[in-house]
Amino acid sequence: MVNVSICVGSACHMKGSREVVAKLKELVKAHQLEGQVLLNGSFCTGNCQYAVCVVIDDTVYSVRPETTEEFFNNEILSRVS
Ligand code: FES
Repeated sequence: MVNVSICVGSACHMKGSREVVAKLKELVKAHQLEGQVLLNGSFCTGNCQYAVCVVIDDTVYSVRPETTEEFFNNEILSRVS
């Protein structure tokens, strides 16, 4: 199981965390990975400076709504296959 935590703190919210979550949900569904990818909300981890903070296995990524698909392809798909 790939655990993906998306920050829903206020700074990340302003940078589009809701859109990032919605896109990730769509992509997980489109690839039929509901049983393999777990999307969680998390609170501020202090990594607010660049974009929405997303954590997979202790690795911190900064994701913008427009880079969500690239992030999914590079970081999530590579972990499930
Ligand atoms: S509000 Fe998201 S890391 Fe700070």
